Amino acid sequence: MSIKIKTKEEIQTMSDGGKILADILNTLKTESRIGVSTGYLDSKAEALCKKYKVKSAFKDYNGYGATICTGINDVAVHGIPSESELLESGQILSIDMGLIYQDYYLDSAITLPIGEVDDKGIKLIEVTKLALKRAIEVAVEGNTVGDVGFVIQNIAKISGFSVITQMTGHGVGRKLHEEPFIPCFGNQGEGIVLKADMTLAIEPMINEGGSEIFIENDGWTSRTLDGSRSAIFEHTIAVGKRRAKILTQ
Ligand code: MF3
Ligand code: CO
Repeated sequence: MSIKIKTKEEIQTMSDGGKILADILNTLKTESRIGVSTGYLDSKAEALCKKYKVKSAFKDYNGYGATICTGINDVAVHGIPSESELLESGQILSIDMGLIYQDYYLDSAITLPIGEVDDKGIKLIEVTKLALKRAIEVAVEGNTVGDVGFVIQNIAKISGFSVITQMTGHGVGRKLHEEPFIPCFGNQGEGIVLKADMTLAIEPMINEGGSEIFIENDGWTSRTLDGSRSAIFEHTIAVGKRRAKILTQ
């Protein structure tokens, strides 16, 4: 197990790239209106990558064909954007995007309501956002990967939701996926001990119903087994001595 500790310069580079990613996601958020297709959002993301002179980290990753992942309602994280998939009022939409800036990878995701969404859908989004906030608060030197997962799982549980266990967060930096894995569950004090300047993609993935997901025949699209909705929020962060630094904002 070799977890790379980044230098201050590397973290600054990642932070510069992360600002671009935050900017792109913010634009995609404002573009996500009723009647817009997820394929349009993907082409917008592609155009913005060109504008900022960055590359998509997802395109061509294991043969993935799009720039972003989009997930409506029960699609958990990995949905493939399509021109024929139009956003409708009442849906929740997740957008996951990774980019490469000066050879460094950044990864971030958001979930948003489209039009009028019922209270439980809004609660799912808010709980998942809060889980990311709390998880980042414990991502400090001396705490463990288990502490991070515990916080995410606990917030999901007390809210009556469940975490996805079949996909995890991860180290990120020179590659999209580096060690260690950052599961959305865990026990306090267990697992790898975090050190300052490790860079991690922390990504709470929370389902309204049960935790199980399945992958469709396209090899990518993951859906909740019970058809309940799924939300994700993700930031790339640098572990701190006393407080983590969010790189994708
Ligand atoms: N969303 C995944 C992550 O955050 C990566 C997706 S890879 C892709 O780690 F190829 F599906 F886009
Ligand atoms: Co990720």
